[in-house]
Amino acid sequence: MISTEAIISRSEISRCMLCSDAPCTSACGKMDPAGLLRSVWFSNEQGAALRLPPENTCLTCPAPCEAKCLRPGEVHIRDTMNRLRYQVLPECETPLPGDEERLKCDLCGIPMENPFLIASSVSASSYDMCARAFEAGWAGVAFKTICSMDIREASPRYSALPGDGSSIIGFKNIEQLSTLGVEENMKILRRLRENYPTKLLLASIMGRNEEEWGTLARLCEENGAHAVELNFSCPNMADGGYGSDIGQVPELVERFTRVAKQACGIPVLAKLTPNVLRMSEAAEAALRGGADGLAAINTIKSVTNVNLHTYVSAPAVRGQGAVGGYSGSAVRPIALRFVAELGLNPELRGMHISGMGGIETWRDAAEFLLLGARSLQAATAVMQYGYRIIEDLKQGLNLYLAEKGFASLSEMSGLGLDHLSGTTDTLDRGTVLFPRLLKERCVGCGRCAVSCADGGHQALRLDEQRHPVLNGGRCVGCHLCVLVCPQRAMVPGTKRIRRP
Ligand SMILES: Cc1cc2nc3c(=O)[nH]c(=O)nc-3n(C[C@H](O)[C@H](O)[C@H](O)COP(=O)(O)O)c2cc1C
Repeated sequence: MISTEAIISRSEISRCMLCSDAPCTSACGKMDPAGLLRSVWFSNEQGAALRLPPENTCLTCPAPCEAKCLRPGEVHIRDTMNRLRYQVLPECETPLPGDEERLKCDLCGIPMENPFLIASSVSASSYDMCARAFEAGWAGVAFKTICSMDIREASPRYSALPGDGSSIIGFKNIEQLSTLGVEENMKILRRLRENYPTKLLLASIMGRNEEEWGTLARLCEENGAHAVELNFSCPNMADGGYGSDIGQVPELVERFTRVAKQACGIPVLAKLTPNVLRMSEAAEAALRGGADGLAAINTIKSVTNVNLHTYVSAPAVRGQGAVGGYSGSAVRPIALRFVAELGLNPELRGMHISGMGGIETWRDAAEFLLLGARSLQAATAVMQYGYRIIEDLKQGLNLYLAEKGFASLSEMSGLGLDHLSGTTDTLDRGTVLFPRLLKERCVGCGRCAVSCADGGHQALRLDEQRHPVLNGGRCVGCHLCVLVCPQRAMVPGTKRIRRP
């Protein structure tokens, strides 16, 4: 069964650089170790195990893959292949689906091959880039925001908080909109529609006044867009009342949505800002203006990496930093919260929700779907790892749907909403769930006891073998020990007890 926790964690292969044209695969000749490692990285380890060739050639192989690795000896490729075969494969109960029928869905009635779109960003800003995304397997693009302003971007324009290996936890950008003129962008839309008729073209637009919103919406329809996404949420355009300023003012959201809706006959999505306390006010305003759907979230206003010598935050443009938009894995919980808020709002029932914010793996995608999203977008993960992440997004989600017995995506959409309340007030407070130690995994580091002592309720002590011993009289079942254990040896117990 697909477990909630990976058997081979990403950190175990964090020295792998996910190379382009990877030397390990060229050296192997029997399988594609680079593709399999990438699947492990993107949480699709069962997909990887099921793709292994039937015969285990790794057993007698001198591992030229490891010799040719650009970090020789640092990535245990053969070991990982064997773990896929002997630890992960036996857990696989469902064969790899032979087709992608289950992934088919729609955006306001427009068919999509799968739920995955490139989010409006540089990755969907030219004909060539969109074409390559389509060829890689993306179902469509939210094209980089088109406007009639003269956009001149700053350099540098990104900054990041690094994670394990080459991963990025959070990503900040100070980028604005498409630097191409309206005419040129329309030409691109026409060519994409003509050459990729089955791919979905969602044209993101931003106007400065009613006339511009209307004109852009009309032009996008005339030039082949299937739908328009109204960018009410770019945090890097706030001066003068554009961008996220609009998303913060429901009257403007309603007014500009109505103008766009009246100017075109295709579906209109309002892309909303997370830089608000609640998103419902703007979402309901978009609905009143006639929007068919909502897209959320755009980036979150942020400051990153203040340089301790120059005192300038990053990215520094000639000695000056600026508040910019934060995206990537770090924002996923906030994005899920907003998507769930929209999904739980009965006023918005029936509106299409296109969810985004930190989607990197199929598991992230599934979380958004369970909270009510019906299509999904990704920007930062694509910028970081390339269009190729679509392979594991599709395969992992398809396998999950097959295993769960869902015939289509719509069967899982919103299932998590029944189990989520907007506040913690309604939760049971009369019982405690103790943690449980898996002794065979514990190596006696004592991290659980340190955290329990200094951040918990002093319920753990270490015995002579350095294994933690629980004092049930003190433990409140907070599970801090579960979260900090580097060995994943502390797990939630199975029995709830009544609080004395
Ligand atoms: C470099 C960059 C440029 C972006 N440009 C746009 C844009 O032009 N229009 C827009 O609506 N959103 C834009 N976004 C926001 C993304 O579409 C998306 O809403 C946000 O990044 C969250 O998704 P992610 O975590 O997958 O990146 C941009 C994001 C990044 C990182």
